[in-house]
Amino acid sequence: MKVEVRYYSRSGNTKALAEAIAKGVGVEAISITDEKAPINDNVDILFIGGALYAYGLDNKIKKYISELDGTKISKAVVFSTSWLSKHSIDLLKKELTKKNISVVDKYLYYKNMPSAEELNEAETISKELIS
Ligand SMILES: Cc1cc2nc3c(=O)[nH]c(=O)nc-3n(C[C@H](O)[C@H](O)[C@H](O)COP(=O)(O)O)c2cc1C
Repeated sequence: MKVEVRYYSRSGNTKALAEAIAKGVGVEAISITDEKAPINDNVDILFIGGALYAYGLDNKIKKYISELDGTKISKAVVFSTSWLSKHSIDLLKKELTKKNISVVDKYLYYKNMPSAEELNEAETISKELIS
């Protein structure tokens, strides 16, 4: 099973979550701003996450998703952090759906910087999602 983790994070909260997910599924968490970010091979599950800024997604992650080849990605799992609102989960799902990428119902969301316990939980959930 080919699994990839991509994220966009301004201040490190979503990055920490991405790294816990990546640890759970045994791959590297790659920022969408990294030169390794483009996806060229078929992927079974893409974990993709970004935070909420002024009730929207950062344009960088919207652009990244708009440039994905939806035919290469079987399904996606979204994740996010924010102060309060889970709207970013819906917005990520919406952008992926526009690319005909099916998104699983289960998502990972934590407020601000996830605690060590929450990061452990995210690692476990991610492991279960690919099994
Ligand atoms: C400019 C700005 C706008 C934000 N707007 C919202 C918001 O509308 N709703 C919310 O719940 N959190 C909001 N947040 C909080 C961030 O979503 C939260 O700090 C998140 O964990 C940041 O993730 P990052 O460290 O991966 O960038 C905002 C943060 C910033 C810096």
